[in-house]
Amino acid sequence: LDNQNLFSSRFILSIFPHMFDGFLNESIIKRAIQKKIVEINIHDFREFSKDPHKKVDDYQFGGGAGMILMPEPIYDCVESIRDDDSYIILMTPQGVSYNQKKANELKLKKHLIIICGHYEGFDERIRALADLEVSIGDYVLTGGELPSMVITDSIVRLLDGAIKEESTETESFNNGLLDYPVYTKPVNFRGMEVPSVLLSGHHENIKKWRYEESLKRTKERRPDILEEKTYGER
Ligand code: ADE
Repeated sequence: LDNQNLFSSRFILSIFPHMFDGFLNESIIKRAIQKKIVEINIHDFREFSKDPHKKVDDYQFGGGAGMILMPEPIYDCVESIRDDDSYIILMTPQGVSYNQKKANELKLKKHLIIICGHYEGFDERIRALADLEVSIGDYVLTGGELPSMVITDSIVRLLDGAIKEESTETESFNNGLLDYPVYTKPVNFRGMEVPSVLLSGHHENIKKWRYEESLKRTKERRPDILEEKTYGER
């Protein structure tokens, strides 16, 4: 058993812990937690508020709309769980763009702490806590909860034992190409046929066909990643 990932843990800081109920209790993520491949804890930093009403945000200095998350509850929460291995991520549309390469890097971290903020803001001093700021795309969501689930999902499925190894080795992006087309039963569905090479049993030809289809599909749909593959990363 390769237990490189055993007991790696992720801590997610959010004032909306129930947003994670479905995510943590279904499918591959649920199974990975049960199998102790990963431990995921949701921490409600509201519990760290010293305010009698458990306030975690306030108006911004200088005026302007929107409530701003205060630094203290988040700092106190992080400090209650961090250790020497902790790698702290802040979810924000201003962060670096997330991709498969980042997922492959983050899966190596033993202990991730992911802070979910709100777009109209968190106090700038919260940034000083983070090792990395991450955006999942150029659009604005109501908070960092969904983004934190996106990156957690992409990491957990890469951990040893979470899913069949082969499926992550051959999939889209891993060799820098999009996936080739795949088919299952029936051979003829409403006149649409499975390519005959896949039924031939000829493994060399199948491999070659798949590579060519991958390349063709990437050229058509994502010439940008093909360029990166050909000329190296810039
Ligand atoms: N918070 C709000 N929108 C976000 C995004 N696109 N990525 C990461 N965090 C966010």
